[in-house]
Amino acid sequence: MCKLRCGKMTGNLEQRTGSSVKWLPDSSVKYKSMSDLTDWWPGSLKYQVPKSVRRKILIFLFVVAVACVLLVYFCYNCYLICSGSCGVLNIKQDLMTTSAERAHGISHQSMNSQSLQAVPRLPSCIIIGVRKSGTRALLQYMSLHPDTVINAKEQHFFNTDRYKLGLDYYRSQMPKSLNNQIIIEKTPAYFTDLMTPERIYRMNNSIKLILIVREPVIRLISDYTQLRKGKEQRNKTAKSFEELVLDNSGKINTDYKPVQRSMYYHYFINWLEFFSRDQIYICDGDAFITNPYSELYDIETFLHLPHKIPSNVFYFNASKGFYCINDETLDTPCLSEAKGRQHPKIDPAVLEALYDFYRPRNKLFFKLAQRTFDWP
Ligand code: A3P
Repeated sequence: MCKLRCGKMTGNLEQRTGSSVKWLPDSSVKYKSMSDLTDWWPGSLKYQVPKSVRRKILIFLFVVAVACVLLVYFCYNCYLICSGSCGVLNIKQDLMTTSAERAHGISHQSMNSQSLQAVPRLPSCIIIGVRKSGTRALLQYMSLHPDTVINAKEQHFFNTDRYKLGLDYYRSQMPKSLNNQIIIEKTPAYFTDLMTPERIYRMNNSIKLILIVREPVIRLISDYTQLRKGKEQRNKTAKSFEELVLDNSGKINTDYKPVQRSMYYHYFINWLEFFSRDQIYICDGDAFITNPYSELYDIETFLHLPHKIPSNVFYFNASKGFYCINDETLDTPCLSEAKGRQHPKIDPAVLEALYDFYRPRNKLFFKLAQRTFDWP
């Protein structure tokens, strides 16, 4: 077949090399040098295209090949980013260099494809409490930052038997996130649990913790209101606030758990046994209600995040009585009905007794917290 197609293109070289190559041209064609013969090039073109042009074509083909490889690499990375952030996972897509990256010593060059994969990771920030101080609102608002991923469900990992399931279990409960994003978990019951500080410390001794506190008496009333609501939902009769908060002798009933939970110093001291004060951000829950943006700004600084939560995303919703989020994509811009409940009216004498009870205890907390609050 080749004989038919190639015609005269057999001969000299075959004779010189003794090889069985059949397609090389006959000696009747003039060559400038031996390199012309050894070049790879389709035979028929060899006669028509000058060598300089052939070289240019080869360079062009090489450039196209390199461009193709780069394109495939780029598409692959886009796929990884998209699979982690566009749809299923609802992770915000700001993948540019962030201060979170800088804080973790990650440069753009070192962000290989693995770091762009969204996987469950252990939290690097935990909101530890205090219950009924605005923990849900804080977590929700922190999710507005593109470099954070929140765990919406309270895990109760460190304060319950779940701890026995191990850190792999805990990690598996976390939302998927990118390497440069901060995962935030919140379980308010951690604050009052005696085992939790040491357990968190063992997981990550450089973790960042956030404690949000409200004025202790208002927090206590909020706590009571929540427990009362729970009883009502189970068709149980609930005692009045005054009955529960005072003991038989008319003193503050320190056996009542909600009373205990507002004795912040009592629990905070356990945390300071394991964590330095600057590892814990103490958020003013009362200020957070009236001006959430200002507290969030300070928390961004604490977490080494760039200030990306916009101030104009919040608006005061008069019927709710709280700030809500101005985002058309959200079904519910305000927190659920379980947040921002109507509180019962409390006997003023009992309120005074409570303020007196907490005043010295608050002072102890201020000392540990190295800051004061405007509490009565
Ligand atoms: P009340 O329902 O007693 O008013 P937590 O989320 O830790 O359980 O705290 C609930 C408290 O968060 C609410 O207590 C409310 O006072 C406070 N809070 C702070 N910001 C809020 C917001 N934007 N919407 C609703 N409640 C908010």
